[in-house]
Formats: sequence, structure tokens, C-alpha cells
Amino acid sequence: LQETTKLNNGVLMPKLGLGVWKTANEQAEESVAQAIKHGYRLIDTAKQYGNQAGVGAGIKRGILENGLNRKDLFITTKVFNGDQGYDSTLRNFEKTLQKLQLSYLDLYLIHWPVDNKYIDTWKALEKLYRDGRVRAIGISNFDIEHTKTLLAHSDITPAINQMEFNPINQEKDILSYMNLKGIQMEAWSPLGGGEALSNPTIKKLATKYNKSVAQIILRFDKQMGVITIPKSTHVERIVANSQINDFTLTTEDMATIKQLDKGQRSLWYKDFAWHAGHKPNAYVDAVQT
Ligand code: A2P
Repeated sequence: LQETTKLNNGVLMPKLGLGVWKTANEQAEESVAQAIKHGYRLIDTAKQYGNQAGVGAGIKRGILENGLNRKDLFITTKVFNGDQGYDSTLRNFEKTLQKLQLSYLDLYLIHWPVDNKYIDTWKALEKLYRDGRVRAIGISNFDIEHTKTLLAHSDITPAINQMEFNPINQEKDILSYMNLKGIQMEAWSPLGGGEALSNPTIKKLATKYNKSVAQIILRFDKQMGVITIPKSTHVERIVANSQINDFTLTTEDMATIKQLDKGQRSLWYKDFAWHAGHKPNAYVDAVQT
């Protein structure tokens, strides 16, 4: 959990952290506080998740109860789709910090590539970065085309692209493009929202290594060089999900997992983000905290 990777701007980021998508605001404080207590240093949230207030309370508790400093933690959140655009992003950044009770962020991501807006949003992130308000900036759910367009219109290369990534959906093309550009992949829903946990091939590997299925998947991410943020609200799972450093998957077993890729995304921007002529998704509309 203390192990870090160096981002393209030199900032060190933990390789494994806690995700909180689908964690209710009421549960977020406890999950985050427990994770920090058990050694997690990376916490990943988003305005869209509706739990920034709970996450902020958990961070505060985690720092106080464990004698930590703010700088010991690495906090990521994301620009809400409805807040995109230059001025709006800057304005809402301040509100986000208030919700989280923080004075700066470690990583700020554009949550989804909202058409006609994401370039302006990126310019705002570049300003926040230059002003020292965020230590690194990045993107999320950007395919190769979106990333190319962004790179053509930006001064700063994103440090991270956070994508849905799990054994069933390995985004091989995007991953190799990002490797080429020095952008690191971070996996959201690394356990496939729980679905990848029932995969029979990975179950067999779990038996072979005497590990849980989740641990095999998270170890796979690590050996792929992918930063990973499993979500759980159960403390025993939060702890177990971080215990992946006492075994190594063989090259053959890595190849076996690589073959499970079906390129099946559960969620993608065309169904989700705002596009000209498309109504915003109800979920996006509803969540405002
Ligand atoms: P819960 O929060 O009840 O523990 P992902 O991070 O891919 O979105 O997956 C999260 C889902 O997987 C959640 O439903 C979470 O449930 C469940 N989960 C997380 N860790 C484990 C684990 N070690 N074993 C089984 N289920 C897990």
C-alpha cells in the first residue's frame, strides 16, 4: 500500500487505493477511515458519486486517528460532467475542495469526455495545476481519439487516464497508446463491479495460489503496471484487497488472464456523458453532491 509509481510530472502515486463509486455518502466516512487505518493512502472519489462529503469526513478522521498529515494521503476526485467548461470548472473546484474539507487535491480528473467542453475543461485543469492547487491532472474514460484531440490542444500531457479495466475488459489498444504517450492507466471497477469475481478461470488460479479471486485480479493489475482502486464497504475485504504483495503470478498465468479479455465495457461515454443532441443521463442529472 505504500508502494508508489512515478507519474509523468514526477509526482509519486500509490499503486493501489480505495474506490468509492457506489459507496453511499453515509457509508463513505467509515470506509475511508477504515481504509486509511489499514494502510490505504490513495482514495478516489468523484462529485458524480454523491459522496464527497462523507469521503472528506473519512479523510479527516483517518488523518486524526492515525497521526498522519494531509501530505501522507493521495486524494483524487473528478470534474462533474455538468460542471465542465473553463469558468465553471474553476468555480466548482472550490466547492469540491470545501466538500472534501481539503486545501488542495493530489489528482483532478475530467470524469468523462463531454463533447465541445473537454478542451476548455482541460485548460482549467492546467491553470489549477500551474497555480499549485492540484499536484497532477488527468482524464477518465477517454478513448484514443479523445486523447489525441486533447493532446493536440494542450500544453500538459495528462498523468492518468482512469478507465474501466478488468480481466474481461482490458482495453489493450488504449493501454498501448497510453504507454506510448507516458499516460498511466488507472482501473476503475477492477473487480468488474463484482462480476469478474465469478470467472471460473480466475477461480482456478485463486485455488492454485491459495488467494482470493479478488487478490488474483488485483495482483494482475499490479503486474500489468495498472494502478487499481477496488471498492468495498466491508473492512475485511478492504484489508484483503490490499494483501497482494506476497505472491507473483507466473508469466503463463498472466497470459491466461490476458486471454480472458472480451472487450466488454459495462459503461461507456456514448451512453453516459453529455453530447450535443443527447439528453444527459438521468444518473448524471440526479447526483449533485
Ligand atoms: P462490497 O462493497 O459489498 O464489499 P469494483 O471495485 O470492481 O467496482 O467492485 C466492487 C464490488 O465488488 C462491490 O460490489 C464490492 O462489494 C465487491 N467486492 C469488493 N472486494 C471484494 C472481495 N474481496 N470479495 C468479494 N467481493 C468484493
